[in-house]
Amino acid sequence: MAHGQMNAEVVAQVNAHRRSSAHPRPVLRLRENVVRLASELIGSTPLLELVRTGAGTRLLLKLEQFNPTGSAKVRMAREMVLHAERAGDLRPGGHIVEPTSGNTGAGLALMALERGYTFTAVVDDHAAEDKLRAMKAMGAQLVSVDSGDGDGPSSVARRRIAAEIAARTGAYHPDQHNNPHNNAGYRELAGELLADLDTDVDYLVGAVGTGGSLCGTVEELRRLGSRVHALGVEPAGSIIFGGAAGGYWQSGAGSPAGFPVGGNVKYDIIDEDCRVGDVDAFATARVVARRTGLLVGGTGGAAIHVALRRLVHLPAASTVVVLVCDAGEKYLDTVYDDGWLHERGLHDRAAQQRIVRLFRAYDESVRLAAARVERAGA
Ligand SMILES: Cc1ncc(COP(=O)(O)O)c(C=O)c1O
Repeated sequence: MAHGQMNAEVVAQVNAHRRSSAHPRPVLRLRENVVRLASELIGSTPLLELVRTGAGTRLLLKLEQFNPTGSAKVRMAREMVLHAERAGDLRPGGHIVEPTSGNTGAGLALMALERGYTFTAVVDDHAAEDKLRAMKAMGAQLVSVDSGDGDGPSSVARRRIAAEIAARTGAYHPDQHNNPHNNAGYRELAGELLADLDTDVDYLVGAVGTGGSLCGTVEELRRLGSRVHALGVEPAGSIIFGGAAGGYWQSGAGSPAGFPVGGNVKYDIIDEDCRVGDVDAFATARVVARRTGLLVGGTGGAAIHVALRRLVHLPAASTVVVLVCDAGEKYLDTVYDDGWLHERGLHDRAAQQRIVRLFRAYDESVRLAAARVERAGA
């Protein structure tokens, strides 16, 4: 018998012995549940019920921070790299270059190290420090772009420099804003939602940057027969849905003034668009941390904010899913740091209190509904 393998008979004998022994130990499996590559851990992320209302409507969080690299974006990084290999755009020992606020970069860094490529991330000083450190830890090279006045990401400059490096060196430039394999990377996510629920996803809420996670998931949900209503959320100050341009600190979502919105934002499949300011986004994230013990990122806070405000207006027994792109542990120095918020005028107790009251109102509506049922049955 080869080392590490056991046939069914041996497993059965060992298990029988373990069950009968005085100190039984866990039963052996025929096939072990062990992976060899971190990228094999992508997907099957959990759903957490954040709130339920008295009308039976639920707000569920799809917690994408449970992916390796801690965000949803590794799903599309994998898809883009595998497609580039199939198409012959990436050859053994090749080089990848992409502008990133950090999460796409972490995903590409993981794929690059597993498959033997070098990866250059073009970043700016708006990126969360921990995202930069994580990319470096995985062996990525960082090229930094100065964001100038400092009140918004320098996506335009990042993109130009990445394209220049690709043109000069022949590196593969995935271009996540226009690459269809970004959106395709979320097909599995849609399948996971339908597999994990005994109902349709009635509303899907997600922060929009490239558009890949929301549009890719919605497209696949609908292909599978869902009648999902899609809500796209961008930071106030982002221009994706035509609002006034301004600075914002939500990392990863939105597009600043002058940035050409890419083809992966599919306006025809997003039913509604919403803008959330940094104060409400970060206040929501912080209140959610206090309520659940789970720290969500700032863009997750913005999407949850939209869903929380909407719940009361929805038909009874609706299922609302919020895509939470990443975790708050990446933002301990920003979203979860009082001093950082104070310096930018973003620390607002009243905003947090409004969210707390909203949660209390929903909790109370559940108690009232239960009391009504009890009275009716008595
Ligand atoms: C934290 C965070 N939230 C939201 C998004 C937006 O996701 P998408 O680019 O799929 O629209 C990103 C994208 O990088 C992100 O990093």
